[in-house]
Order: sequence, then C-alpha cells, then structure tokens
Amino acid sequence: MRSAWERRKGAPARGRRHRGRTTATTAAVVALAAAPLTAATSAGAAEPRVDNPFAGADQYVNAYWSENVTAAADRAGGALGDSMRAVANEPTAVWMDRISAIEGNADGPGLRTHLDAALAQQQGDTPLVFNVVIYDLPGRDCYALASNGELPATDEGMQRYETEYIDAIVEILDDPAYEDLRIVATIEPDSLPNLVTNASEPLCQQAAPYYREGVAYALDRLHDVGNVYSYIDAAHAGWLGWPNNAQPAAQLFADVVGSTEAGFDSVAGFVTNTANSTPLAEPFLEDTQLGSTPVRSASFYEWNADFDETDWTAHLYDLLVAEGFPSSIGMLIDTSRNGWGGPDRPTAESTSTALDTYVDESRVDRRNHRGAWCNPDGAGLGERPQATPAGYPESHLDAFVWVKPPGESDGSSEEIPNDEGKHFDQMCDPTFASPKLGGRLTGALPDAPLSGKWFETQFQMLVTNAYPAIGD
Ligand code: BGC
Repeated sequence: MRSAWERRKGAPARGRRHRGRTTATTAAVVALAAAPLTAATSAGAAEPRVDNPFAGADQYVNAYWSENVTAAADRAGGALGDSMRAVANEPTAVWMDRISAIEGNADGPGLRTHLDAALAQQQGDTPLVFNVVIYDLPGRDCYALASNGELPATDEGMQRYETEYIDAIVEILDDPAYEDLRIVATIEPDSLPNLVTNASEPLCQQAAPYYREGVAYALDRLHDVGNVYSYIDAAHAGWLGWPNNAQPAAQLFADVVGSTEAGFDSVAGFVTNTANSTPLAEPFLEDTQLGSTPVRSASFYEWNADFDETDWTAHLYDLLVAEGFPSSIGMLIDTSRNGWGGPDRPTAESTSTALDTYVDESRVDRRNHRGAWCNPDGAGLGERPQATPAGYPESHLDAFVWVKPPGESDGSSEEIPNDEGKHFDQMCDPTFASPKLGGRLTGALPDAPLSGKWFETQFQMLVTNAYPAIGD
C-alpha cells in the first residue's frame, strides 16, 4: 500500500502556475525540487511550486537570533554553554511583528536584510526555505494582553494593515532577486482560533471582521508573489482539540480561505503550536480507558481527546479535507519549546489506578494546566527543525519548524512601559492563580521581559530540558 506521503506526492496539482521569471540556476533547481506539482513550461521559468516546500531544502538561519544564543553560551560557559552553541545554527522564523520590523528596528534587521542573508546562505542548487511570520492584524491578540498589536480594530487600522504592512512586505518579497527562495509564511498566530473560542469577548467581537478580512487579504497578496507558501496558524491541541472547537475551526478556516481570490490554492497548509508548548507526543498516554473511565476525562484533558500535537494535526487534517481542502495540504508543528525533557520527565506509564494521578504521573507535559501559555516553567526545546518527519503519517507533516525563536519571551511578568502596544498579562505572572486555569497558578517564569525580547533564563531552561536532549 502506498504511504500517505506517497499518495500526497501523487496528488493532483493544486497550485497555480508560478509566474515565469528567468534565473541561471532554474534548470538545476527544477531538477532538485521535491515533488514538483505544477510543471513550469516556459524555458527559464523559476522553480515550479512544490507540494512540500521543506522537502529537499535547507532553512534560513537568523544570524540575529544565533548571536543571542552564542552570547548566552559564552556567558554560561561549561557544558551548558556547549549545549547552547550546539543549537545556535538552528533555523528560526523572522517575525514581522509590527510595521517597523519591515525596515528593521531595535529588535533586529529588516526584511530585505534577512532575505539577502538568505540568498547568501543558499548552498548550490539546494533550495532554501525562508520562514517569516505575518503578525500585525488590527486588534491583534484580542483575548490576551502580552502581544496586543499596534493597529486598532477599526476601518482605519485595517487600511493601514493592508497598505503599510501587507503591501509593504509583499513589495519586498516580490523582488525578482528573491524568486528562488521558498518563502514560508506563518499567518497570524492566534487570530482565527480566537474567533472560534473567544467570540463572546468584546475585544474579539470587535476584531473578528478584521481578522477574517485581514487574513484573506494577506493570503491573496502573498499568493500573488508566486514563491510564497502560506500556512495558517491553527493554535494547538489544548485549545482547539475538543470536537466542538475543532469542527467550527475547520469551518472557519474553509470560510476564510474560500473567500480569497485563489481559494484553497492560496494556502499550503496549517501550522500549530507556535503560541504554546504542547508536546509533540505523549508517549505513555493513549485515548483509551483506565478501568472503565476514559483517560480523556482526567482533569488535565477535560474530555479533549487530542493529548498532543500529532493528535491535533491528524484530527485537523481530516476535518479540513472534509471541508473541501485538497488532500495535498500539509501540517507544520512548531517544536521550538515543546520538548519537556530534563529530570522531571516521566520514563514510564504510571501504575496508579486513580485517573488523575495516573495521567499526572504519566504525562510529559509538566504544566498545571494546558492553557498555561506564558513562559512555562519546565519546558524544553523540542525536536530540531526538520522536513517530512517520519512516524506520524496521519498528521501529514511537511516539517517541524521553530517559528517562535526559543529564548524570546511570551510576555512580561510585570508591567513594563513600551511603545509596541504590549501590555502586562497576568498569565505571565508566576504569583497569579488564574480563573482561566481553574484557579491554578500560571507556572510562568519570573522576571520575564516583554514578549519577543531575549529572556536568557528561559533559554537556559529550554536547553537544559531539551527533548530530544542536545547531542542525542
Ligand atoms: C511577540 C512578538 C515577537 C514574537 C517572537 C510574540 O509573542 O509579540 O513581538 O516577535 O513573539 O518572539
């Protein structure tokens, strides 16, 4: 029987034709391209669209992030410093988290500088994936405060999103100099998921039409570029996994993507876990019964059968295809901080016959609650970025990626004045027992800087608790 991956490779073409642009390396790139789905017919056309942009490709290493890591390694010294250095050249995504990021600001160089550096990193005919995050919707982060954006959820904010943000990004990406890069765009973390579960919140209600319109606009303009592969953020297992969240999410995704000019062709797939640290797999737990009690009914899972990201991506894939998405869509999982290794990681299934004890002793996710998203104590680096990871055929994985650069904070643990629209979210305060977590403490690390800023203590922890361990 053909594997799911082979079936996908044979799937009918979904992309529109890549706009013809001439390059010297075209023939070789075409020859090396993984599973080309759309034949480039005209001589000299740039690489045709491929099913999985990560297959056979390298990924861009952001030197700005790497410098933070090597500086941290020098400060740490010893074995910890060595472990840090060992991951310093892992690829991480470049975040366009506000308009000024396009030209460059105190947080790093601009988009063009990164793209030029990407060209310089391209080795011979091996394609290079450049991961970029589109993250500046009007009324951004409507259900939290730590990453509230700069644009208001108003018509004027929408106008600015389109012209000063998306159009400005697209103008740069569309430069023929970058036509041979495979640009992978993560589309607006947390935005559409917030409309599924937090639609009753006034701020999300106000933002909802702009999220829909903004995501569709971004998909359309990015699709016009030709060598952009858009993956829409699909939250994580502990947010959308319940059937009564998952089904409406798939419907909403189909609705929004269906409203674009290119329809389903405007997306390559979905990316999960960027804003969270849900494990890739819970090796000691299955959605079965303990005695006569369903494991999913444990307090930690609250009847959600998707215990981990491989469960969620497989579940979501089926729902999306049922909603009309082509079977060729692929899933990305952000594994930048979902490792949960280190001394506290369980090494075997619990022998307890009491359900909550059994689940709590068996799970590798050490949090108090799966909704605890801010700088969670105990997390580690997850799988290193890689294309077409084996072992989870039902998840239709295009790659493991590090979208959230590990070591960059999720939010400040107390109020820090700033001009980025970022606020203090109590979910980032370790002393706060949150009603969103059933009254449990947030489990956030103390002394955290603003979201996106380098947080060295967190990075040390992520490296120490990496799973797989560094060097394995
Ligand atoms: C922040 C962004 C940052 C990104 C990557 C988000 O939580 O809001 O400012 O660029 O994380 O660290």
